[in-house]
Amino acid sequence: MPSGSFPYTVRGPLRPLNRTNHSALAGSTCLVTGGCGFIGSNLTRSLLDLGARVTVIDNLATGRLEHLPSSDALTLVQADIAEYPNLESLLSGVAYVFHLAAQVGNVKSMQHTESDARTNVLGAVRLYQACRRSAIRKLVYASSSAIFGEAETIPIAENHPQRPASFYALSKQTAEQYALLAQTLWGVPAVCTRFFNVYGTPMEKSEYSGVINIFMEALAQGRPLIIYGDGDQIRDFVYVKDIVQALLLAAEKGGPGSVYNIGSGSTCSIRELAGILLELTAIPSEIRYAPFRAGEVLRSAADIRVAQEKLGYQPGYSLSDGLREIWASTNADRTPV
Ligand SMILES: NC(=O)c1ccc[n+]([C@@H]2O[C@H](COP(=O)([O-])OP(=O)(O)OC[C@H]3O[C@@H](n4cnc5c(N)ncnc54)[C@H](O)[C@@H]3O)[C@@H](O)[C@H]2O)c1
Repeated sequence: MPSGSFPYTVRGPLRPLNRTNHSALAGSTCLVTGGCGFIGSNLTRSLLDLGARVTVIDNLATGRLEHLPSSDALTLVQADIAEYPNLESLLSGVAYVFHLAAQVGNVKSMQHTESDARTNVLGAVRLYQACRRSAIRKLVYASSSAIFGEAETIPIAENHPQRPASFYALSKQTAEQYALLAQTLWGVPAVCTRFFNVYGTPMEKSEYSGVINIFMEALAQGRPLIIYGDGDQIRDFVYVKDIVQALLLAAEKGGPGSVYNIGSGSTCSIRELAGILLELTAIPSEIRYAPFRAGEVLRSAADIRVAQEKLGYQPGYSLSDGLREIWASTNADRTPV
């Protein structure tokens, strides 16, 4: 396991998603749980683009049908994974399972603790049991950097101590542990990918990358950008297209029982983020400072060297590139960037 130093930046060329890199998935049949959500809909679109047949199960708790294209290769099951009576039937002929359905958010889990546990733990366990009785090639579980809590050292390697500080972090960690034990005890070919702060479209008000959406909305409406604290909080914002790349690679190349931290491999402070957005939108907004909010993680940054080495994962988007792309797609009528 590499021991990281900070600051840590990915070396090597930026590389966009390439369909020839994912030949195993082309023509395969996949199940995506939570496929109507932010990351799930991006993944489902990419799988369809690659020529895969995809079944999505989603209860539309936060997901939207309009996030998905209409396609003969797509089957949508509108149901709750914690209750759906026959998950096994959805796995018939399926080679790859991507488990993304979750109640997402630390704050939400404090207010809706039972539904967090139901979806994130019970839903996952039910899926793993169904996988046990199927002939799938790989199960990829979408875990989270939240399981680490406040970092002791950054960048955060896979073996960094885990100190979940919310029920969401605990339920994500628990489902990850279940996946790894299901691999050991039942032979379920499970792989875990731990995402850091994912951003992109469709833009949602998630805690992970909410600051990007809030800053962009403020800029679009001519309001100041509010920074809580000194703005030195460090984040690893990773573009959703890179997350899709990591998921596809994990399905194809991930070693059963393995975990991979997935981020951009570079870091950005909240103050720097505000600066980048002011520059690329060319909107003359001001930055204002407000008191620090208790409970906010101070430093988060992924050590992605294991994913690079074992999966061939290589982030294709710098933060400026990703921000420019989503600003252009959501503000087509505004200042050119
Ligand atoms: N967004 C991030 O930055 C981030 C970071 C780390 C990990 N993750 C993980 O990635 C996954 C996807 O997150 P996202 O940001 O796309 O969130 P999201 O809320 O957009 O997607 C979650 C999807 O799951 C569906 N869902 C919720 N409960 C369900 C249930 N009981 N049965 C069926 N479907 C259900 C929702 O309707 C939604 O479509 C989650 O597992 C999350 O924990 C996300």
